[in-house]
Amino acid sequence: MSSSKIRRAVIMIAVGIAGLFLLNLIQGNDYANPYRTYTIDASGFKSNGERIYFTATSDSGKPILASMGMMNMRGGTMSCATCHGANGKGGSGRMMMWQFEAPDIRYSTITSVGHGSNESDEKPYTDDLIKRAVTKGLDSEGKALEQPMPVWQMPDEDFADLLAYLKTLG
Ligand code: HEC
Repeated sequence: MSSSKIRRAVIMIAVGIAGLFLLNLIQGNDYANPYRTYTIDASGFKSNGERIYFTATSDSGKPILASMGMMNMRGGTMSCATCHGANGKGGSGRMMMWQFEAPDIRYSTITSVGHGSNESDEKPYTDDLIKRAVTKGLDSEGKALEQPMPVWQMPDEDFADLLAYLKTLG
C-alpha cells in the first residue's frame, strides 16, 4: 500500500471509531432513561436528582463515586436505576455470574415498617437513615447492607436532590 492509502485507511478507521463513540453517547442517554418522553434541559433530565438516579453523574459535574469492596467506580458506569430499576421497585439483577435481588426503594416503601422485605418488622427509614444507607452502607437498623449495594460518595446537595427524586417515585 502507498503511504497515502495507509493514511486514508487510518483516517477512515478514526472516523469510524469517533462515530461509534457518538452513537454510544446518544444511545447511552436513551438507555439511561427509557421512559423519558420530555426534554427539559441539556442533560435530558427533568432534575438533577433524576439525572443522578439514572446516570450517577450530576449537573455540577462533581464526582459521584461508588465503591464495592475493593472496587471503586466513578459515576456513569452504574447507577441506582441499574439495580433498583427505572421505577425504584427493584427486582433481580445480574453482574457477571452473580445473580442478586435489589429491593424496592420507593420512598413510600422504605419509610414504612418492613419496607417490603421478608423481615417484616424492620424499622422504617427516615431521610437521615436513607442518607446513611446510601453513603455509609448501613440499613435502617444499623446493620451492614450486603453487596452489591455500593457505598456512595457524593456532595450533600446532590444527595438532597437524589432524595427529592426518590420521593417522586412514590
Ligand atoms: C449494583 C447494584 C446496586 C446499585 C448500583 C445500587 N443499589 Fe441500592 N441496593 C442494592 C442491593 C442488592 C441492596 C440490598 C442490600 C441488602 O439487602 O443488604 C440495596 C439496598 C439499598 C437500600 C436499602 C433498602 C432496604 O430495604 O434496606 C437503599 C436505600 C438503596 N439501596 C438505595 C440506592 C440508591 C439511592 C442507589 C444509587 C445512588 C443505589 N441504591 C444503587 C443494589 C444496588
